[in-house]
Amino acid sequence: MLLTTEAPAADSDTLAFIDREHKLLIDGDWVPAESGETIDVKNPADGETIATVAAGDKADIDKAVAAARRAFEGGEWPALTASERGRMLWKLADLIEEHLEEFAEIESLDNGKPRAVAAAADVPLAIDLFRYMAGWATKIEGTTIPISVPYMPGAEFHSYTLREPVGVVGQIIPWNFPLLMAAWKLGPALATGCTVVLKIAEETPLSGLRLGHLIQDAGFPDGVVNIVTGYGETAGAALAAHPDVDKVAFTGSTEVGKLIVKAAGETNLKKVSLELGGKSPNVILPDADLSTAIGGAANAIFFNHGQCCCAGSRLFVHKSQFDQVVEGVAEQAKQIKLGPGMHPETGMGPMVSQIQQDRVCGYLESGFAAGAQAVIGGKRAGGEGYFVEPTILVDTKPDMDVIQEEIFGPVVAAVPFEDPDELIAAANDSIYGLAAAVWTRDISKGHRIAKQLRAGTVWINCYNIFDAALPFGGYKQSGWGREMGHEAIDLYTQTKAVTLQF
Ligand code: NAI
Ligand code: MG
Repeated sequence: MLLTTEAPAADSDTLAFIDREHKLLIDGDWVPAESGETIDVKNPADGETIATVAAGDKADIDKAVAAARRAFEGGEWPALTASERGRMLWKLADLIEEHLEEFAEIESLDNGKPRAVAAAADVPLAIDLFRYMAGWATKIEGTTIPISVPYMPGAEFHSYTLREPVGVVGQIIPWNFPLLMAAWKLGPALATGCTVVLKIAEETPLSGLRLGHLIQDAGFPDGVVNIVTGYGETAGAALAAHPDVDKVAFTGSTEVGKLIVKAAGETNLKKVSLELGGKSPNVILPDADLSTAIGGAANAIFFNHGQCCCAGSRLFVHKSQFDQVVEGVAEQAKQIKLGPGMHPETGMGPMVSQIQQDRVCGYLESGFAAGAQAVIGGKRAGGEGYFVEPTILVDTKPDMDVIQEEIFGPVVAAVPFEDPDELIAAANDSIYGLAAAVWTRDISKGHRIAKQLRAGTVWINCYNIFDAALPFGGYKQSGWGREMGHEAIDLYTQTKAVTLQF
């Protein structure tokens, strides 16, 4: 059901921020793009332009990288103690918390997600991440290592390691969780003492820009965090190829992830970490508690309108329960009210952009042409906004695009299985390996299958559980490295071995 596209207006402070002239944050100053070009920012619920932001490109990236380099090499930032860095991160978390409602409204208007979801999930998770990383700043330690050099008999040494910041970091983030993705990237980089050029997504730049102001208020020295809005092909590509960037961290499509690796290889072999696509299997075993598994399967795909890299987009259900589960998930889909994120009754907002709406609908059409059927949904929903109906596909074949490729919309393919061994092979039959889930009352079986699934995250009897302390990242073509948890600290530091001879 599509609600009216009319929704309550946002708070006047939120609207005043959205309305202002948006510039780039470079070396502590807000400056226009060198080219003077701008990008229109749309509310995806109605297609209206709500703001314009600067279209930064290579020239602006060059300035931002130079500022980040200066901030890394000298001045205030490297002179701060770890404790002082930690306190700044904690302060930033407090400031975001003070502006929680404003961020939720910005995310809703810019991305389309329900305001209440942003207020309950996106923003609190971002706050938590900064607090978690604030604690890490003072806990980055090396080790002492006894050595016994065979070609220097009798000589005595003292060897130890230092974990040092990797340097100037370029970070490129997508539009599905704009504030949260900025937090995942900035938190560990700042905890470790790196400096950053953050390229935020052209579709959803507003919360990242708001965050830029709070970063200044939290007291981070000029040039430590530089924020550039701009297109991927220009600003993003320039950052990935920049010879003075020590590391690039990217979240987005696997296709662009490969371009990032190529750019790093062709220039300065900068370090690369990647969070890419997924086609995550969600497995309901015959002994599962269906009263929770059905709701879990709906949440796995419909949360954030399916625009999640870890979306449970392939639902495997035992043949004996297939119809019951599909009906149950369809019933949940029917209850979801489509509408603008700012409407209090909205359960699912629009896709982020017309391009994404067309892309998702293109996948649906290719699935239907290949013989798949929609049990529910299957098309765009009316109005000016970029809505797509929550959709369940059946009668798919393993080689169809809708089974192999990431759709990134509210579309799940339900697939029946009979033999448990074939199930594991089918679940792992993907170029991706980001997440997976299994629903069962048999504890041993749950853990055994968790081991067999080739994915960086496995949920047992739950889905979409995130915490700043849990590492997240992909097997196979879903990425390189892990964000969050202490592994994120490894991504932004490098080891130096120091040896002294007595
Ligand atoms: P994308 O990968 O093109 O964009 C993500 C970020 O990369 C944006 O900031 C963009 O400006 C930047 N970018 C684009 N091209 C670039 C380039 N050549 N060099 C450097 N940076 C570049 O993703 P897009 O086009 O927004 O969505 C396409 C598909 O990607 C989606 O349908 C979905 O399947 C996948 N995707 C996956 C995400 C994830 O969380 N893993 C997030 C967003 C998209
Ligand atoms: Mg793209």
